[in-house]
Parts: sequence; structure tokens; C-alpha cells
Amino acid sequence: MIILRTINDVSRYVSEQKGRGASVGLVPTMGALHAGHISLVEKAVSENDVTVVSVFVNPTQFNNPDDLASYPRKEEDDFKLLASAGASAVFAPSVEEVYPGGPSAQPQHVFDLGMAAEVMEGKYRPGHFQGVAQIVSKLFRIVNPDRAYFGEKDFQQIAVIRNMIKSEGINVDIVACPIKRADDGLALSSRNALLSPEQRKVAPEIHAALKDSVEYSLSHSVRATHDSVVERINAVPHLEVEYFEIVDARTLATIDEWDESPWVVGCITVYCGKVRLIDNIAYRLPKD
Ligand code: PAJ
Repeated sequence: MIILRTINDVSRYVSEQKGRGASVGLVPTMGALHAGHISLVEKAVSENDVTVVSVFVNPTQFNNPDDLASYPRKEEDDFKLLASAGASAVFAPSVEEVYPGGPSAQPQHVFDLGMAAEVMEGKYRPGHFQGVAQIVSKLFRIVNPDRAYFGEKDFQQIAVIRNMIKSEGINVDIVACPIKRADDGLALSSRNALLSPEQRKVAPEIHAALKDSVEYSLSHSVRATHDSVVERINAVPHLEVEYFEIVDARTLATIDEWDESPWVVGCITVYCGKVRLIDNIAYRLPKD
């Protein structure tokens, strides 16, 4: 596995590989890697001749400076995990390399991300998806991958990236990968490392509440299902729901009745102390 630090080096590496007919998979990450990220890398390795993983804590998608400052960074461990997962190359640039002169010196381009970027994370983290679109479109243009891999843990992010490639005219296959969980059900996240032992103990209640609510939803309304999840989670010490929305998975618009869409997902964000955790669950899946 080679480690590339500059845009020139990664562009040259990818054009060489493409020149010899290799297919290229890209896995964008912000590092502090865990088994969730690695599952994406393994899928990319199995489907492409060459897999490039980017490790870059993108400052422009953090709307909270404390969140950016406390975001875990463990480059050496990350590189070891990536090498053993079979990645071909890591692109780990500096902030200056990606944003010469600093993030605020960049030309202002407003991405058309559609309604999917306005709701949920879009509402609670203003500017977040513009920052995600900024870095992901840059990575797509630099690496020019055949396929790019994203986790369904960030369900809304995938919808927004699909809208971004459409409006920017970028041609890449977006591959959505299932959520990896700890044995107790907590969705793996780099932010889990920031939980105290006490908080870590109660955090699995988020997935437990969502999971139980799927059965509950078969005999209850959307509203009753929604409220039962919020009440259960808010009753747990340390946990506080920021939002929970039951939406049409294709548009991310909230639904009032289960039969409004064949594909219904519940997306949640919960503060566990100061740590912001996100998760989601499918209530209805399309038959095919
Ligand atoms: P990051 O949070 O590091 O996540 C990188 C990728 O790993 C994302 O596609 C995310 O959905 C996926 N992922 C994280 N936890 C997962 C889990 N438990 N199971 C499956 N997949 C999981 O998402 C970002 O970084 C950034 O926004 C990025 C796209 C890299 C742009 O900066």
C-alpha cells in the first residue's frame, strides 16, 4: 500500500493504473477507522482492481469548531488497518494541500443538493452538506473512480451525494454499504471513542429502541411509532434525541401514513452527553 500526500501524486498514480486498464474504487473517510469503514474498503477491494482510500478530516463540513477540534485522529493505526484490508493506496493530504490558503479562501460554489440536503442533518448542521459536497466532488475529480463506497449509517449523506453528482455532471457509481454494529447493537462510529464508559453502556439503547419499533410499527401509526422511540430514548440517562424522522427513503420527506412509500426509513440523531450519534432503521423495504 502506498501513502500519497499530494493531489499531483494521487492523480499520477490513478492515471497510471487506469492506463493499464485497472478499475478504481474510492472510499472517502475522515480516519479514526473502525470495522464499519473497513467493511467498505473490503467491498471496494473485492469489486475493483485498485482501491484508493482517502483519510482527511474535512474542516468545511464541521459547523461546530469544538467537534472539529475533538474529532479523533489516529493516522498510524489507520494506515495499518488499511494495509491489512488490502487497500492499494491511501490519500492523506494536509488541509493546505486540499484548501490552499485555508478553507475560507476557496472560491464560493454553492452546490445544488436538492431537498434531501435541507432536512434532518441539513437543518441541524447548517452548511454541513455543502462541505461534504465540496470535499467529495473534489475527491471524485482528483481520483476519477469507477465506483465510490459510502455507508448507510449516514443514510442522508448518500442521498445528498447522489444529488450532487447529478447536478455536477460527475459520472461515478455510488455503492451503498450496510451499517456495521458492535455486538450490543451500537452503530460503529469514530465518535464512539469519545463516550465515557457510562455513556457507552447506555448508547446501545438507541438501536434497541429503533429495532423494537419495527415490530411496533406493524400495528401502530407513524406518529405513535415515532413518539414511542423518542420517549423510550429520552427516558434513558445521558440520552437526548435531537431529531427522529420517519421518511420516504428516496426523497427523505416525512410521511404520515405507512403506505405513502414502499421504502420507509427512520433517521435519528441522539446526543449522548456531548457526543452526537446518528443511526437509522428501515421500516419498509421495496420488494425487489
Ligand atoms: P466518516 O464519518 O469517516 O465515514 C466514512 C464512510 O464510512 C462513510 O461513508 C460512512 O457512512 C461510513 N461508515 C461510518 N460508520 C459506519 C458503519 N458503522 N457501518 C458502515 N459504514 C460506516 O462520512 C464521512 O466520513 C465524511 O462525511 C466523508 C464522506 C469522508 C466526507 O468528508
